Amino acid sequence: MTALQVPHHIAIVMDGNGRWANKRFLPRIAGHKQGVESLKRCAKACDARGVRVLTVFAFSSENWKRPTEEVSGLMDLFAFALSREVEQLQADGVQLRFIGERQGLSARVSRSIEQAEVATAGNTRLILNVCFNYGGRWDIVQAAQKLAERGLSVTEAHLSQAMALAHVPDPDLVIRTGDEQRISNFLLWQSAYSEFFFTDALWPDFDEAALDLAIHSFSQRERRFGLTSGQLDSQAASAQAQ
Ligand code: IPE
Ligand code: IPE
Ligand code: MG
Repeated sequence: MTALQVPHHIAIVMDGNGRWANKRFLPRIAGHKQGVESLKRCAKACDARGVRVLTVFAFSSENWKRPTEEVSGLMDLFAFALSREVEQLQADGVQLRFIGERQGLSARVSRSIEQAEVATAGNTRLILNVCFNYGGRWDIVQAAQKLAERGLSVTEAHLSQAMALAHVPDPDLVIRTGDEQRISNFLLWQSAYSEFFFTDALWPDFDEAALDLAIHSFSQRERRFGLTSGQLDSQAASAQAQ
């Protein structure tokens, strides 16, 4: 039996909070609250399995178009959850990073982001990137703007270094919950060679067993990066011979 390959970096589109709440005749924000609990469970489970980077999609550039009440509820929940959870994240060795456009966020949300980032900056067990007011297109544009400002030529290497996730390797596995099979402007650049796993589990229901299914599926894939299976076999054979 071959050993389980655990992804170094997992990225997740945490979708289905609203439907989870609807099914229970609860307001949508109740689903988002439960989504925070699911994220805490997932981060712990990832750490326990040896995943070193977890990147989650919490609020997209497009989510501003939702009803005002839901948007303000999400902003409040975000700021509240951050201030409440920072101590525990600190104890668990989690380094929090916020990925997204900071302009346009309220002073309260910006402050809670800065405080959480400063408090957890020295942690090394798990990097948790929270994509908030994030869009993959925004990321590519802001990276291109940086190159222009710095007078750098437009190359893949320069763009990669200017992207918002330059501090971590590209995701090995991208999971989307909530029974949708689309990318919704998530990691457009970074997911070029990621494996994808779609599940109908709604995000608040995504538990350890669901995570294990995704990791197991990942572990069975052959990642070829454009090569042939034969080339991969001979690479593995020569690596073993050394
Ligand atoms: C994902 O859940 C969380 C955010 C987009 C903030 P949704 O709110 O999209 O849940 P559904 O898709 O309506 O069920
Ligand atoms: C993607 O979910 C964004 C987040 C999970 C934060 P959406 O629910 O916004 O995506 P669409 O609108 O169904 O594509
Ligand atoms: Mg959705």
